[in-house]
Amino acid sequence: MIGKKNLAIAAACATVAMLAGCASTGGSAKDGAAGSVAPGASGKGAILVVSFGTSYEETLEKTIAATERRIAEAYPDYEHRRAFTSGIVIRVLAKRGIKVDDVATALGRLRDEGFTRVVIQPLHLIPGVEYHELLVEAGKARATFAELAVGEPLLSGPESFFELARVLEPSLPACAPGEAVVFMGHGTHHAANAAYPTMQRVFDDLGLPVYVGTVEGYPELPGVIRLLKRDGVRKVTLLPLMMVAGDHANNDMAGDEDDSWKSVLTREGFEVECALRGLGELPAVRDLYAAKAGAAMGSLEEAKE
Ligand code: CO
Repeated sequence: MIGKKNLAIAAACATVAMLAGCASTGGSAKDGAAGSVAPGASGKGAILVVSFGTSYEETLEKTIAATERRIAEAYPDYEHRRAFTSGIVIRVLAKRGIKVDDVATALGRLRDEGFTRVVIQPLHLIPGVEYHELLVEAGKARATFAELAVGEPLLSGPESFFELARVLEPSLPACAPGEAVVFMGHGTHHAANAAYPTMQRVFDDLGLPVYVGTVEGYPELPGVIRLLKRDGVRKVTLLPLMMVAGDHANNDMAGDEDDSWKSVLTREGFEVECALRGLGELPAVRDLYAAKAGAAMGSLEEAKE
């Protein structure tokens, strides 16, 4: 869904991340959701939750909106706003009368309304192109707000892979011998694509019958099929390793077209089931994002000390 973008952006990001108060070195993400840090007596605080967006309204409600509500519930002292990064999704929804801001517009609004402390929490999975573009936007707004921090995406360090795997484990269908789960991740040309093979390695370490492939990156489906055959798997359940079960999940994964993963795996002799469930449908995943927003907030407090 994301076009080839100027890779120079990535080089600029280390600096911008620091300017934006990126919480990458902040404390444990787990302690973040425990206590809300009030924006301060004089300041007005807001949390801007940023996602790619989806035009599939049912999954939007069950994943993105549900996660936004979870974050709002965790930090009631803050104003809560939404922004999407996909211009296409924003335009499609606008035609249906649903207005969603892009990041620059949302930040402009917060500035105009006098907010002084802003925490931007992305609902992205990996620190890829969109996350780095978000850091650039945040960098531009740095002078506008007294305090500005950007939270981490879901997969942002070794421990975060284990956190996600542990959160996913109880939600997976029971697998008898010869059965497995195949996750469809998005994938990217960005270096952050390394998250997907890392996720595979972590599932392997935990001894789970889970395989990870991507639509637009590495590993690709043929490599997944090779491993499934090597391991004697005959039946698979397909699940999106994406925040929402949108276009990729409905078409590329579970669609009836010849080249969908369901069709290809069926032709390869596997029994295939599909579950159209975005990661955002899992309350424990929403908790992880709420904790990341808390960690970003905590980084603002640390900056004052
Ligand atoms: Co895409």
